[in-house]
Amino acid sequence: MDIAALRQSWSEVAVAGPEAARYFYATLFVMAPETRSMFPIDMHHQEDKLFAALGHIIAHVDDVSALAQFTHRLGADHRRFSGWNQHGQLVQLAECHYIWVGQALLATLEHILGPRWTPALRAEWAAAYEAVAKLMLAGAEESAQVSPPYWEAEVTSVQRRRADICVFTVRPDYWCSYLPGQSLPTQVPVLRTWRYLSPANAPRSTGTLEFHVRAAGRFSTHLVRRLAVGDTLLLGHPVGTALSSYDRAPHRPLLLIAGGTGVAPLRAIVEQLRQGPGRPTTLVVGGRTPGDLYDHDTLTQLAASTGSGTRWAAGDGRWLRYVPTVETGWGWDGEVGTAVDTALRLGFWADADILVCGSPAMTQATITTLTAAGVQAEQILTDSYDHTLYPPLSAAPAGAPHDISRTGVL
Ligand code: HEM
Repeated sequence: MDIAALRQSWSEVAVAGPEAARYFYATLFVMAPETRSMFPIDMHHQEDKLFAALGHIIAHVDDVSALAQFTHRLGADHRRFSGWNQHGQLVQLAECHYIWVGQALLATLEHILGPRWTPALRAEWAAAYEAVAKLMLAGAEESAQVSPPYWEAEVTSVQRRRADICVFTVRPDYWCSYLPGQSLPTQVPVLRTWRYLSPANAPRSTGTLEFHVRAAGRFSTHLVRRLAVGDTLLLGHPVGTALSSYDRAPHRPLLLIAGGTGVAPLRAIVEQLRQGPGRPTTLVVGGRTPGDLYDHDTLTQLAASTGSGTRWAAGDGRWLRYVPTVETGWGWDGEVGTAVDTALRLGFWADADILVCGSPAMTQATITTLTAAGVQAEQILTDSYDHTLYPPLSAAPAGAPHDISRTGVL
């Protein structure tokens, strides 16, 4: 494989940016109309995903084991996509779709590269795409041996905690296993789009999962306004490795910093720790006003239920210290300040693992403040809870916080 030629030509496609993605999808939908119904009506969020993934693959094409892991995972995830053919019959994503996508990709490269698209380069790209497609199909086949393409989950409770926030519970039809801190692609069947949600609980013997959603885009607003007990949601395979690697050094203290519904995955992690001996943990949850602390009662009860553990007693003798903090509030007698400012007032955290979860702006501001205060970037783990999550092909560069997320609005 001529890796240099692949990379060089890809860099030219990357320069073309959205034009290449638009040409690709237009070609695909003309060539294979049934694929159109697999994608959301609004292609705004999808357009760069396939191309971003291809860029990732090309950048790491010589790292065979990382590439195999990534493409297997991607292929397994693609099992959840389906559409309708011209007879109105449901079609699952299958090998023929990979062939059409490959042809649309080659046509796009030809369109963008013009005279630089030679027969030799075409042969390189065709072989590279075929190798990737085979790995994805193998990943799909392996995962089909052990799990369904997606879970159908019945909504068993819905609480509207505020006008723009709902907390709901679902019961999947089969056992759905995930690690606290991971996210699951979730679909409201009438909307057909998939968005990532992170469970707020550690796996339970009943198999139920609790999710927290704030109305921000079409998907989340639908959930907040319309979701009802008895509705069915679809859940795809859990993804995300950053937050769920909180136990990489269990002897170290943990600092968990949350904003908004970013509290959900951090609560799941605390619940998981509670099933073991515990670990000195400080959970700081920030809001602009006390009304933003929509999960305060549950977190207070959770903190009260944690024992002192064996040798880890912290603060009032319990291993979990829960610290709600607000920027402003009449009659509020707790901590005042942003979550990160309050966390830094509580300690220096030189020996702690620090998990940050909130909106992209809150996450970024928190990381900036922490590193300015002397925290090492390697101490910080973060996923933006409302994002498309794909494991990186290789570890984050030294010195960069472990952030594997990409932005989008739910
Ligand atoms: C080399 C081959 C491919 C790569 C690298 C690729 C990559 C991706 C990526 C990274 C995503 C985003 C996943 C997510 O956000 O959860 C995605 C989504 C998707 N892909 Fe692919 N894909 C490939 C082949 C295909 C094929 C053959 C089809 C079938 C036509 C397909 C249909 C879809 C659909 C329907 C979505 C979801 C769109 C949405 O709901 O937002 N992909 N793909």
